[in-house]
Amino acid sequence: MTNRPITTDDAGIPAPSDEHSLSVGPNGPLLLQDHYVIQKMAHFNRERVPERVVHAKGGGAYGTLQITEDVSQYTKAKLFQKGVETPLFLRFSTVAGELGSADTARDPRGFAIKFYTEDGNYDIVGNNTPIFFIRDPQKFSDFIHSQKRRPDNHLRDNNMQWDFWTLSPESAHQVTFLMTDRGTPASWRHMHGFGSHTFLWYNAAGERYWVKYHFKTDQGIQNFTASEAAALQATDPDYHTRDLFYAIQRGEHPSWTVNVQIMPFEAAADYRFNPFDLTKVWPHSDYPEITIGRFVLNRNPENYFAEVEQAGFEPANMVPGIGPSPDKMLQGRLFSYPDAHRYRIGPNYLQLPVNKPRTPVNSYNFDGPMTFQNPAGPVYAPNSVGGPAADPSLYEGENYHVTGEIVRSAYTKHAEDDDYVQPRALWENVLSDTDRAHLVSNIVGHASAPEVTTDMKKRVVEYWTNIHKDLGHGVAQGLGLV
Ligand code: NDP
Ligand code: HEM
Repeated sequence: MTNRPITTDDAGIPAPSDEHSLSVGPNGPLLLQDHYVIQKMAHFNRERVPERVVHAKGGGAYGTLQITEDVSQYTKAKLFQKGVETPLFLRFSTVAGELGSADTARDPRGFAIKFYTEDGNYDIVGNNTPIFFIRDPQKFSDFIHSQKRRPDNHLRDNNMQWDFWTLSPESAHQVTFLMTDRGTPASWRHMHGFGSHTFLWYNAAGERYWVKYHFKTDQGIQNFTASEAAALQATDPDYHTRDLFYAIQRGEHPSWTVNVQIMPFEAAADYRFNPFDLTKVWPHSDYPEITIGRFVLNRNPENYFAEVEQAGFEPANMVPGIGPSPDKMLQGRLFSYPDAHRYRIGPNYLQLPVNKPRTPVNSYNFDGPMTFQNPAGPVYAPNSVGGPAADPSLYEGENYHVTGEIVRSAYTKHAEDDDYVQPRALWENVLSDTDRAHLVSNIVGHASAPEVTTDMKKRVVEYWTNIHKDLGHGVAQGLGLV
């Protein structure tokens, strides 16, 4: 025998063989007493946790956020104070595909960041777009059902996707983004990230502001055309995962400039757009972006399953100085993610190294499956034996006045709220001629799938005509309807 280590079972006991099961004679049946083989087979059957119900395919890396500007007048959050450096983990993903699906599919990209701050974890669970398809969480599962596989034939179905979108005009802005070449980014390094929602910031004096996050790629935006993306789906489904891993391994550490838009608290009430509507941006002419820092990704995970698959991000993880806004989508997400993690990973997912805060946990929750952390002291509050005590003053500023009748209703409209005005601005003022031509051809390609009916194609044309007649006309021409 060489000086190789001896194989053991999971209890550390030397293994009886690497190759042969215990049998009655060389040709006889196997024995139940071969605990070693049974352990191998049983553990293999349990190598997977359920994949994420959305955003299943992805990759991630560690890095550091550095704040370069003083924004203490807007927030007291420790991670956003000038000079502070905060370690982070960022996971990129597609939305609709399964774990083995192709990275270059047309889809929004998840852009989920976990900051390991001095006040515990702060998670910004955003996308590479500043907006979303819907504005009420009630519609989220319906929307996702329309994007994923049909229950009868297990196929994705573009007719179903257009059915949902054309019946949900609030989707127009996000579907416009999705159908431009930004729907097929060239790499995760070459796209922006957005917090997308509006969040609350409050400073040490308890003064409040509304904020939106923009993470601007320092590598520059690069996208694939539809045909480039399609070719890579066939030849290298892991293209983006590979790109990020090897870039970091080569020492090419991607970075993003951290910008914010800040709205005074009182300005929200009569702003021309509903500032909490996730289908809208805040135009820069009203609220310019302010640079506050930069983050870099500089370290690959060492165990994909442990660190990426078991990563659990939750929009509800907010630290003192930051709070939720009344965005209904954000409110729904505050519940959804920890619920998903308790099901997908287990109730003690926060004890896993990638999810574990880098600060002491003095919680009164304890025990449960797979726990290995002891409660730090007494297990109930209040107590008279020196256990941890909450400090409500840390949250002075998160309080604000709300009143109203309990209703099921759309948002109250602000002066310029309209589902088409912002995608129209994108078409008219932002997209280049090439961007517009690709937008039309990408829509036509998607709506030309064999399952899309003629009646649906007419609805598709109407949907795009509502944004701009030239866009609708281009789509109608491409679909052979004029
Ligand atoms: P601006 O001209 O000030 O901003 C336009 C924005 O669009 C910039 O952030 C630009 O930054 C981004 N952009 C450029 N090319 C594209 C593209 N092909 N696809 C998507 N975004 C692109 O105008 P407004 O702030 O008034 O916004 C006009 C429209 O621009 C909005 O209705 C919205 O559709 C879109 N937009 C606005 C954003 C905002 O937060 N205000 C953010 C992103 C888009 P960059 O090239 O660095 O992405
Ligand atoms: C993942 C729900 C809207 C970004 C998920 C997951 C769920 C979920 C259940 C899987 C979590 C897991 O198993 O780990 C919802 C609901 C939404 C919503 C209910 C609306 C009400 C959004 C929006 C964004 C977003 C608006 C972006 C702005 C993400 C990202 C992930 C994710 C990035 C992957 C996180 C990761 O990398 O682990 N979502 N989502 N979601 N969602 Fe949402």
